[in-house]
Amino acid sequence: MARLFNACAACHAIRKGAPDRNGPNLFGAMGAPVAGVSPRFGYTAALQRIGGRWTPERMDAWLTNPRRFAPGTSMGYPGLADPLARADLIAYLSAQH
Ligand code: HEC
Repeated sequence: MARLFNACAACHAIRKGAPDRNGPNLFGAMGAPVAGVSPRFGYTAALQRIGGRWTPERMDAWLTNPRRFAPGTSMGYPGLADPLARADLIAYLSAQH
């Protein structure tokens, strides 16, 4: 599962108190406010206007196609087509709390 996160680690740390990179630190992402996982990060208006919190369903939609979920987002990641790989990644994110 952590191996799947390699595709994210170029831009995201996932460790308590770790600094943001190109993308925000994702420690504690599941259940956190959308565009609020790392409050110091400069999020786009595209992601901020989504509102609410990260549920497994929303995370699945985001990771399938970030630009469809939040048109105008700055997350330069095309999406992960394999649903099983997404489920594994979401389980991994859920464990990082
Ligand atoms: C090329 C850099 C890059 C890659 C690769 C990348 N991200 Fe991101 N990610 C970003 C940026 C930049 C943002 C902020 C987007 C915005 O503000 O619109 C972001 C935002 C996020 C958020 C929202 C955080 C919040 O506070 O709501 C999540 C969750 C996330 N990324 C997960 C992932 C996962 C999981 C992967 C790997 C499958 C990944 N990202 C790959 C750059 C990246």
